[in-house]
Amino acid sequence: MCSAIILYMKIRKDRKLFYYITAALTILIVILVAYICVAEKAVAPTDTNASKQSEKTDPQKFNKTRYSIDEPGSPWWIVSKNRPLTEGYLPPDLVTPNVSLNTTKSASENTLRRDTAAALEKLFAAAKLAGIDYMLASGYRSETLQASYYNNYVAKSGQAEADRYSARPGTSEHQTGMALDVATIDRRHYLDQAFGEDPGGIWLASHAHEYGFIVRYQKDKEPMTGYMYEPWHIRYVGTDLAKKLYSDSQTMEEFFGLYFSIGPN
Ligand code: DAL
Ligand code: ZN
Repeated sequence: MCSAIILYMKIRKDRKLFYYITAALTILIVILVAYICVAEKAVAPTDTNASKQSEKTDPQKFNKTRYSIDEPGSPWWIVSKNRPLTEGYLPPDLVTPNVSLNTTKSASENTLRRDTAAALEKLFAAAKLAGIDYMLASGYRSETLQASYYNNYVAKSGQAEADRYSARPGTSEHQTGMALDVATIDRRHYLDQAFGEDPGGIWLASHAHEYGFIVRYQKDKEPMTGYMYEPWHIRYVGTDLAKKLYSDSQTMEEFFGLYFSIGPN
């Protein structure tokens, strides 16, 4: 310590040396501070990454009450066997999307609500770039049309079996104008569970959420949704919820705590 003070006194006497050493020390300190700042930035996640991460791990970040699940027409409206539509519900803004349509169906079954139609156009355009040509197999269905489908299925399979794959009139998501059936234009595995293992079904299952759709009736989720696996039936819920349900592998019923239990109707 003493020798350091003696050295300091000597240096102080030599003014030129004193200035040189002070300048060198200042430069060293500046370099050191700059180095610490850069190193800290490299280790810490950016704000965007941090918020994405916390949204994924923190369920509180997703606002489950942003839209109603009960209100007719709400993007998160849940329609199911025990959540029928309001009597005579007619979607307010049905349009024909600019996609390949099902020429064997009526003009009205080739319609969807405006937002759903716009999202579908984007989904099908992205699929086309990936080499997959989809068509809208069945869109909006009135209660009367659903009744005729349901009655035919009951005649074909019996009521118990028909109830596993066809909604009774007044309870079909198709009547909301926000759900539809997808097929490839070559009609390979047309509305058949094998579609799920086909490139068309695989692409749909992996990308629908990016455009706001969910595959509504998932494999092994019949106790929750009330319907058997339908890899072709998609429902528009908007990208936030679609991405959330996709990443959590959940149905709407699981996510919102509504468990459909199979039993006597
Ligand atoms: N196939 C679905 C469940 C419907 O009929 O709406
Ligand atoms: Zn369907």
